[in-house]
Amino acid sequence: LDSRHIKKPMISPATENMHNQPFLIVAGGAASGKTTVCDMIIQQLHDQRVVLVNQDSFYHKLTEEELARVHEYNFDHPDAFDTEKLLDSIDNLRHGRAVDIPKYDFKSYKLDVFPVRRVNPSDVIILEGILIFHDPRVRELMNMKIFVDTDADVRLARRITRDTVGKSRDIGAVLDQYSKFVKPAFDDFILPTKKYADIIIPRGGDNHVAIDLIVQHIRTKLGQHDLCKIYPNLYVIQSTFQI
Ligand code: C5P
Repeated sequence: LDSRHIKKPMISPATENMHNQPFLIVAGGAASGKTTVCDMIIQQLHDQRVVLVNQDSFYHKLTEEELARVHEYNFDHPDAFDTEKLLDSIDNLRHGRAVDIPKYDFKSYKLDVFPVRRVNPSDVIILEGILIFHDPRVRELMNMKIFVDTDADVRLARRITRDTVGKSRDIGAVLDQYSKFVKPAFDDFILPTKKYADIIIPRGGDNHVAIDLIVQHIRTKLGQHDLCKIYPNLYVIQSTFQI
């Protein structure tokens, strides 16, 4: 067999790229149930290595002055996040390097650096955050973009419970923050990014059909991924070869 006739078309440039790259998915939408959606995806992919990275871990550290007037700080504006650091962490994970990611403490408004959360490179990386579709450089890295779309009143009701019960905040302050920052930022920065989503999930975690379809798609992609891992030098023979 003449080796000139052995070609390598089976692995397209895109699949070749996937050979040792994780499959990245994103969940967008504020207080919409995206954590529930992510948890359900992770649960169904229990036999895969999946990590969840939250955009909250990339909030800028507040200065003493900002901390003293924290009720005037806009946590829903794109500038509240250190996107360069987020990009750096994703880049490391994509290239198989573990990263240390702090946990964000909503009560103290601080990033808990200790104990460090070591995130290892995985087959699937889920990025979750309200403004994760905002920066085009982050969007371009993603294999699948999901926007969790839930009614504004449902989001507000959930937020009130979460912030008063979970974060021990005063209801007046929660409503004030909502009308001053959360709602305007949702309308100006979050909702306009819905158009970038590949999949829009109405009703969040209640939408089992959507989650099943997403998991099926990831499994199909991981199957191709595994094939490339098992047969890194997989060649196909050109159909019109000469002996
Ligand atoms: O968990 P989720 O992604 O919904 O968190 C984002 C929300 O957390 C934002 O709407 C922001 O207003 C709120 N937030 C807050 N206090 C902080 C940081 C973020 O209420 N210290």
